[in-house]
Amino acid sequence: MSKAELHRDGRLGILRIDNPPVNAIAPDLVTAMDAALTAFEADTSLAALVIECAGRTFVAGGDIAAFDDPSFSAGPFNALLARIEASDRPVVAALFGTVLGGGLELALACHARVATPTTRLGLPEITLGLIPGSLGTQRLPRLAGVAKACEMITSGKPISASAAAAAGIVDKLAEDHALAARELALHLAGSGAPIRRTRALIAPDADTAGAVIAEARRAAQARPWLPALAAVADCLAASVQKSFPDGEGVEARAFSDLVRTPQSRAMRHLFFAERAAQKIPGLSRDAERRTISRVGILGVGTMGAGIAMCFANAGYPLHLVETSQDGLDRGKGLIAAAYASTVTRGLISEDQAQARIGLMTGSTDMADLSDCDIVVEAVFEDMELKLSVARKLGAVCKLGAIIATNTSTLDVDRIARETGRAGDVLGTHFFSPAHIMKLLEVVRGKDTAPEVLATVMELSRRIRKTAVVSGVCYGFIGNRMAEVYMRESEAMQLEGAVPSQIDGVAENPAFLGMAMGPSRMLDMAGVDVGARTVVEWIKSGKGPQDPAYRILARTLYEHGQHGQKTGQGYYRYDNRKAVHSDDTQKLCRDLAQAHGVTRRAAIPDEEILERLLYPMINEAALILEDGIAYRPGDIDIVWTAGYGFPAWRGGPVFMADEIGLKTIVARMDHYAAALGNEHGYWTVAPLLRHLAETNSRLSDWQRHI
Ligand code: NAI
Repeated sequence: MSKAELHRDGRLGILRIDNPPVNAIAPDLVTAMDAALTAFEADTSLAALVIECAGRTFVAGGDIAAFDDPSFSAGPFNALLARIEASDRPVVAALFGTVLGGGLELALACHARVATPTTRLGLPEITLGLIPGSLGTQRLPRLAGVAKACEMITSGKPISASAAAAAGIVDKLAEDHALAARELALHLAGSGAPIRRTRALIAPDADTAGAVIAEARRAAQARPWLPALAAVADCLAASVQKSFPDGEGVEARAFSDLVRTPQSRAMRHLFFAERAAQKIPGLSRDAERRTISRVGILGVGTMGAGIAMCFANAGYPLHLVETSQDGLDRGKGLIAAAYASTVTRGLISEDQAQARIGLMTGSTDMADLSDCDIVVEAVFEDMELKLSVARKLGAVCKLGAIIATNTSTLDVDRIARETGRAGDVLGTHFFSPAHIMKLLEVVRGKDTAPEVLATVMELSRRIRKTAVVSGVCYGFIGNRMAEVYMRESEAMQLEGAVPSQIDGVAENPAFLGMAMGPSRMLDMAGVDVGARTVVEWIKSGKGPQDPAYRILARTLYEHGQHGQKTGQGYYRYDNRKAVHSDDTQKLCRDLAQAHGVTRRAAIPDEEILERLLYPMINEAALILEDGIAYRPGDIDIVWTAGYGFPAWRGGPVFMADEIGLKTIVARMDHYAAALGNEHGYWTVAPLLRHLAETNSRLSDWQRHI
């Protein structure tokens, strides 16, 4: 069956698109639409045309994989849109679901648009480092104004149907979009009114567009690493200053330049990596799942409170358990305060906040968790405590309930065994603040039952997390890599670099572009939190036996310098502002002397970048060799969704390939010689060396499962 066909409904032509799952624009669909349009053009007995879609949504985008094909051209689709717009009989789009990218551009080429009230409309191309390539930058400002178009195209965020109606993008809202579109098409045909072609309109805010465009250019200059922003400003300027065909030329040139930029390739890589991360080796899409209707949280501290909110936000009833009534009240207080701030920021209403809090019950008795389908344990990071609560949970949780631990470093397999029902156990490693951060590392234990993993992956979608599966090891994927990054940051501080130089290099987009440098991040998260786990790791005998290993963090911890919360950490805090700390610098000098570290007058920025980044990339290769991550893209998702690694760099693995593995290996060897390699910190992972020698890419590496 063809993906688009022309049907007849009385005097109306219905161009029906049917390209599951989301009616995405693809070359064969364009060919089918072309044929259907030709049939409409030939049948002069038809008074008007309605474009509608089968399935659950109007066209929700385009085939992004096609952008990698050097022969890709938006030409055929754009020509089709021009023919639709040129029709001498009215064409109406019947919108529902998510009208995104090429879907919205198709709608903009029609003469009128009807939408259901729940429809969402947007141009998300910027999230792929691109601009709309099918005249979205030319038609949207003409219809909705330059300011609205600028906001939608530069944010990439979809807007509601009512906002679209207010902006003039949608002409009518109706529950029955198909019927309303038919009625509107017949009305337009019968009214004899001239056809309203978007290309012929003048932006309603053309008079004030200059200021909007100047502001867009300023914003683009402030973020030069995202060249798509400057292209948006150029295209919007063309939409008010040039003819439609000239504007079309500006957009087409900008699009074809952007598609080849490393930034867009990086962001497209992440788009596919995020989808690939949902496929779990050995688990079919229709794998059996357990039903989750009630959730338990054990330990309502910083993490437990945030995790409870994730579930309440998705509508799950919850039961919270703490050791004492005071603890429970404190936990509930954290939740109430976090909801109050979301209400203040206008993200949800007071009623919604109260409804979510109303989903939670609480007590101090673990037996009350017996009717929960999953219990997430978020008690202190202490193995003895974790083992003791695991034993109790194993006994109180009902048959078939899932037991999840939020540990950030401890051995999930050992915790699992202690429950006496290891098949029901896995790790759910949320990131702080848990109700905001997108990433969820799902830690698959050696005995985790497949349906338990499948259930939690599905659950993570429902609570709107980006889930990545990790195997069991110290720190899992993310913190294991963060450990070597922190190690080098601290080693360089002992050698003479100040935290602001190191953070500056990490945060500078010309070098890396992290949201926050290593010392600033540790001071914010709490030096004690990180240092305690390092101390435990070393004590367990499995951590590095180097006396100087992260000695700075361990000493700051011992001295009670726990970061922002104590006013002193790597930095000193002056009214929450991080400033240079003479005390910490003296500590660095003393520690350097005690551990025989040679101090240098200056460490070049390039060395700082290499020493932060290359050991991390090397660790990524080890993680792949060890089977801790299933695929390279999973690592990039962890770092971009959980650690503020810039999406436009595609993650550490993608960035490694951009730098070149040969360069990285050569520099690792250089540092092994220059700094010494007594503890193996600069030993190149065999996989990395092999790939460098065979001119292969780390991103393309696949485990044979
Ligand atoms: P926290 O100290 O803020 O909260 C722990 C809570 O557990 C406290 O409220 C305590 O009263 C409660 N608790 C202790 N023993 C209990 C028991 N037997 N029964 C019930 N409640 C009990 O700690 P936080 O930071 O929330 O950490 C919790 C877990 O999450 C740890 O395993 C930690 O490693 C992990 N984690 C922490 C992150 C962070 O940034 N803080 C990030 C990711 C994971």
